[in-house]
Amino acid sequence: MKRVFSGVQPTGNIHIGNYLGALRQFVELQEDHECIYCIVDEHAITLPQDPKELRKHILDVAALYLSIGVDPKKSIVFVQSDVPAHAELSWILTCNAYTGELFRMTQFKSKSQNKESAPAGLLMYPVLMASDILLYDTDVVPVGNDQKQHIELTRDLAIRVNNTVKKTFVVPEGRFMKEGARIMSLDEPTQKMSKSAENIHSRISLLDDANKIKKSIMKATTDSDGIIKFDVENKPGVSNLMNIYSVFSGKSIEDLEKEYEGRGYGDFKKDLVEVTIEALAPIQELYAEIRESQELIDILKDGAERANAIAIKTLQRVKDNFGLGL
Ligand code: TYM
Repeated sequence: MKRVFSGVQPTGNIHIGNYLGALRQFVELQEDHECIYCIVDEHAITLPQDPKELRKHILDVAALYLSIGVDPKKSIVFVQSDVPAHAELSWILTCNAYTGELFRMTQFKSKSQNKESAPAGLLMYPVLMASDILLYDTDVVPVGNDQKQHIELTRDLAIRVNNTVKKTFVVPEGRFMKEGARIMSLDEPTQKMSKSAENIHSRISLLDDANKIKKSIMKATTDSDGIIKFDVENKPGVSNLMNIYSVFSGKSIEDLEKEYEGRGYGDFKKDLVEVTIEALAPIQELYAEIRESQELIDILKDGAERANAIAIKTLQRVKDNFGLGL
């Protein structure tokens, strides 16, 4: 069986972009892959976090994983900092990464923009991500489009070590959805939907109530020509809403264009509100139950044990190949 690894940062506001681009794949893949899903708290602290909030968000993400259908009997679910090998491998890979390639990462550029100086961890973010992936001899990494550059770097690092030191790592592949790999912001549809954007109506969080969902969709930026047509370049707002509608309803973009021919944005948005509320309702119901259960903690402890068992072995192999330790 091929191995899958992916992670989500516990930084709050997990939104439909995260779900449609990445999380949705987690559930699909666990049927015929060996899956490992991580809550990457060490990535979260590359930017300042309130310790109490961080703890809370770790459990929020874990509960969301289970609510969308990740099954801890099939998949390993754990918290990154509970497996020390991630940070240890990260140092070894740091020594094999070039500062130039790290400075070129678009995520680093955008997150350090307008800052007099940025935390070094922000620059090393992709190396820690490569460690997450390579530690488990991962074959497939389900993520959104915005992670393409990080996956490329992971592959480069694996190939570099394999060629210059010794064949050590499996070279992984990214897995991206056809529709949903890049869900855009509702108010600025040329930017990706983001957890940290100031305007809460720029995103729909998985736990938003019906009122909030309605407000955000009805406010969403469209254009003035009133035609429901998929055209990302000229109609980014409408195309983004069509994308969301299509994945949540299972209707194709062509069918949506036909269904809404001659009808205005108002009608279309009203229906999208219904479709979105309906799609998120079962997740929200389960979440309320799971989030407060002791079982959640037990699942994460068991997950960390299982992840550790794999990670320790890989790390030993890496150390042996590098001549580290006794
Ligand atoms: P994070 O928490 O920022 O995002 C989690 C996942 O959501 C995807 N995503 C999107 N997909 C579609 N449209 C959007 N607007 C959108 N915004 C976010 C991201 O691509 C991601 O798949 N660096 C990772 C976390 C990570 C990781 C890993 C992932 C750390 N180590 C190892 C895979 C493997 C991240 O961006 O998380």
